[in-house]
Amino acid sequence: AKITAFQDALLTWYDQEKRDLPWRQDHEPYHIWVSEIMLQQTQVQTVIPYYQRFMTTFPTVTALAAAPEDKLLRAWAGLGYYSRVRNMQKAAQQVVEDYQGVWPQTAAELEKLAGIGPYTAGAIASIAFNQSIPAIDGNAFRVFARLFEIDADIAKPQTRQIFYDVIEEVIATERPGDFNQAIMDLGSSYMTAKNPDSAHSPVRDFNQAYLDGKELDYPVKSKKPR
Ligand code: ADE
Repeated sequence: AKITAFQDALLTWYDQEKRDLPWRQDHEPYHIWVSEIMLQQTQVQTVIPYYQRFMTTFPTVTALAAAPEDKLLRAWAGLGYYSRVRNMQKAAQQVVEDYQGVWPQTAAELEKLAGIGPYTAGAIASIAFNQSIPAIDGNAFRVFARLFEIDADIAKPQTRQIFYDVIEEVIATERPGDFNQAIMDLGSSYMTAKNPDSAHSPVRDFNQAYLDGKELDYPVKSKKPR
């Protein structure tokens, strides 16, 4: 009952207050994937115009797979980390050649594509394909660590599984993509790293670290892994 109440509070807030972002207009895997790669090292407000231009220049995964290098790099100019867009073209070619242009739907298969790790695979599987897979980036680690007082050190690689096990219990199986994106929105509004405003958060009553007055102790992150 507590889990259902948490999901309801989170999703009701998301329905009312979610950010209106161009990649939230549909569930096309190509759209979700491009936005998630751009958002990995770049702020939302910066990404928006790049995303819109990119979709005009390369409207489909097939167009991206076939793009000449100079056009590709020009579309990315200013975003930095060019390995991201080079990997994107490789992944686009994999989708076209290995999957006849039809995106695979499982996180395990998505992770075989160039540049797609557990976070991006989870985001695509949940948002585009409605699968109950966590999508945990740095912000989501912080949000979940606080909500459930997860003490595992997020600098350690084996910690991802500990978070997966917790999230598996609480993810909204009817709306996993919205659930994951609501967590992202929470992380950029009420549950920020340095100045959280949890007293006014829609999930205030479910935020264990806040209730215990220990919010800023989470997430636990050692300087040196291992
Ligand atoms: N950051 C990473 N993915 C995001 C998404 N889908 N919406 C908003 N912010 C994000």
